Amino acid sequence: MDRLAIEGPTKLEGRIGVSGAKNAALPIMAACLLGDGPSRLLGVPRLNDVETLGVILGGLGLYCSRDGDALDCKVVDEKNSTAPYDHVRKMRASICVLGPLLARRGEAQVSLPGGCVIGPRPIDLHLKGLKALGAEVKIEHGYVMARAKELRGARIYLGGPHGSSVLGTATAMMAATLAKGRTVIEHAAVEPEVEDLAGFLIAMGAKIEGAGSHRVVIEGVDSLQGVEYRIIPDRIEAGTLMVAAAMTGGDVTLEGARIQHLDAVTDCLEAVGATVEVAEDDVRVRGSGRLGPVDVTTLPYPGFPTDMQAQVMAMLSVSDGASVVTERVYPERFMHVGELKRMGAEIKQDGPTAVVTGVEELSAAPVMASDLRASAALVLAGLVCKGRTEVLRVYHLDRGYEKLDEKLRSLGARVERISE
Ligand code: UD1
Repeated sequence: MDRLAIEGPTKLEGRIGVSGAKNAALPIMAACLLGDGPSRLLGVPRLNDVETLGVILGGLGLYCSRDGDALDCKVVDEKNSTAPYDHVRKMRASICVLGPLLARRGEAQVSLPGGCVIGPRPIDLHLKGLKALGAEVKIEHGYVMARAKELRGARIYLGGPHGSSVLGTATAMMAATLAKGRTVIEHAAVEPEVEDLAGFLIAMGAKIEGAGSHRVVIEGVDSLQGVEYRIIPDRIEAGTLMVAAAMTGGDVTLEGARIQHLDAVTDCLEAVGATVEVAEDDVRVRGSGRLGPVDVTTLPYPGFPTDMQAQVMAMLSVSDGASVVTERVYPERFMHVGELKRMGAEIKQDGPTAVVTGVEELSAAPVMASDLRASAALVLAGLVCKGRTEVLRVYHLDRGYEKLDEKLRSLGARVERISE
């Protein structure tokens, strides 16, 4: 298992490109199951999650081959519609094969993904959408078994206790593209990744209006074609590098970031005293001196992203004053708190809320990555510590960040990957 050794402190400086968005690439890869011909996806990040989904899709007869940052996806066989536990348990996002399989092949058996360290991850909204479209859905032996001779357009309300569901919306949207008649999804997720999936489906020939708003209308079509499509830049990778620049007192320019997807992060950084400047496709972030406190509440888009909560908490650990961080999307997503405290952070957590009191400096320590974004937070904390921090179990990071250690090195960080 690889680990990262970080010698701090470092000021990050320089220019770096933003990779394609993991959370857009995954459902778009699954959507390739819907097409009659091959698709070519551009800007697909090299990540373990992309590879894992590639293996699952391969088992379902969708052959994916990489060519630089492009992924060619071609259906070669439609006989198997079962996504087994062995692969699905590695990555919850594999649930996104359910909708396309059902719509295209009339059946799907997808292992239930189970819980994960960031708390319970139900899929009731995915199933609600498919049932509304006329599918028969059962849970048997740990699998979702879905079947439908024909899907029919319907009105679907997709609000849940924590807001809308990103992949739940993707599931309903993908299934509805080949249903008979009109589907209206109310309380749809409005994340840019949902809009990007809709963009891909529309390019394939789907009739979708309103993606990116809470009401998405889909007129079913008879078939979809394969197409070439470029994935949007990763707003969470960009946000992570923006926070890293600010908290190290650095000066970093991100190339190809879409600032309009980063309003909440930008607002947070400006509130703590960092400077964010935009020139065409470049976003420049500078931090100087001590940063200040800010209260952050995670919410569905365009609110502050839960996928940035851990990284911002690392920053607030070394900002002046007290900040209140409230997690409204995954109220148990605080695995990083214990590890940050091992580095000397002062954090008091009570239920979905944590009060972070900034300390003068964190102290380097061996720490354990527990999930993807928590790992990123520990790496950022390592950048501001004096001395050597080792982040263990870095495979979590490799699931969702394309070569983060190389990118940080190119910005001047002393980060070394140690393979065992
Ligand atoms: C996606 C992202 C993930 C991000 C999350 C929230 C991908 C591959 N992953 O995950 O990085 O953290 O959005 O922005 O895109 N919920 C239900 N019932 C459901 C589904 C979800 O109650 O059927 C709840 C969840 O427990 C959570 C909230 O809804 O509290 C949002 O989850 P959801 O938007 O579905 O997350 P994902 O799409 O799985």
